[in-house]
Amino acid sequence: MTENSTDPSRIVLLGLGDMGAAFARAWLAAGHPVTVWNRTASRAEPLAAQGADVAADPAAAVAAGRLVLTCLFDDASVGSTLEGVDLTGKDLVDLTTSTPGEARARAEWAAERGARFVSGGIMAVPPMVGVPESGAYTFYSGSAEAFAEHEGALSVPTDARFQGEDPGSASLVDIALLSAMNGMFAGITHAFALTRRSQVPPAQVAELLQGWLAAMLPAAGEFAARLESGDFTTGVVSNLAMQARGEETLLRAAGEEGVSTELLLPYGDLMRRQIAAGGGDQDGAGLVDRLLKEPA
Ligand SMILES: NC(=O)c1ccc[n+]([C@@H]2O[C@H](COP(=O)([O-])OP(=O)(O)OC[C@H]3O[C@@H](n4cnc5c(N)ncnc54)[C@H](OP(=O)(O)O)[C@@H]3O)[C@@H](O)[C@H]2O)c1
Repeated sequence: MTENSTDPSRIVLLGLGDMGAAFARAWLAAGHPVTVWNRTASRAEPLAAQGADVAADPAAAVAAGRLVLTCLFDDASVGSTLEGVDLTGKDLVDLTTSTPGEARARAEWAAERGARFVSGGIMAVPPMVGVPESGAYTFYSGSAEAFAEHEGALSVPTDARFQGEDPGSASLVDIALLSAMNGMFAGITHAFALTRRSQVPPAQVAELLQGWLAAMLPAAGEFAARLESGDFTTGVVSNLAMQARGEETLLRAAGEEGVSTELLLPYGDLMRRQIAAGGGDQDGAGLVDRLLKEPA
């Protein structure tokens, strides 16, 4: 193992779940020497067959190279896996989905152990990894020097986007996008439930949803322009008072069709709070600051 530590192209990867294994396969396919470790050793076997070196424990894996990646269940499992492991002089890139606060604390933890730290937020599912045309990318933030040094290797499994030196910012944008995705899935789920007992076939609902949601997406750009200007009322096409009236119709329709309103109500409640605070003439972007627990 010691001779490997001089090889700057060696990738050390801890965590061979669905995502970690996909990253490992991409590096192996690109010709990188790869050392892997996984808590359940059997998950390393297919990668060993593809040329990976398998370490007996996390310390042995970390000793094999300078660039050390973790792709584990959560931030706590990163801490427990690397507990007592010598990280002096290592560049630790944590691909585990974490909160921004966890990533910042992990960066401090790594610095106390003599390692540079980069947090990663993967915007892909495993089959997209190692497929350049899939659109997969990963946000990275933390040590700019460490990212620059390893950008070539980090760009192999997915495109690599550096989000700045705040170790929490990769997690922040990752989780912002995932949160928006959950909202979209909530809407899709409600739409299918509403049409479930009707003559409209699911395939048609799917086609309509894809077109409609794509047509609505530019609203994100309009939100950004209003948040930057602070003007939530000029040239508003669908103000909140109108949207809230429309929401009453959505709720009555759900009642008629025997569909729970649980996925609709939170957004409607937010609109009603903003209208009660005098924001009925605003665009939907006016809701953003209403959602903050402290005023922006
Ligand atoms: N899959 C996706 O679509 C996707 C997309 C974006 C980001 N991610 C992120 O990538 C990370 C890994 O996801 P995954 O899909 O690979 O998950 P997974 O298939 O469930 O694998 C989890 C990995 O964490 C290990 N692990 C769990 N608890 C552990 C502990 N206490 N100590 C040491 N190792 C532990 C597992 O080891 P064992 O094999 O021993 O259980 C396994 O290697 C997660 O943070 C996830 O949010 C995943």
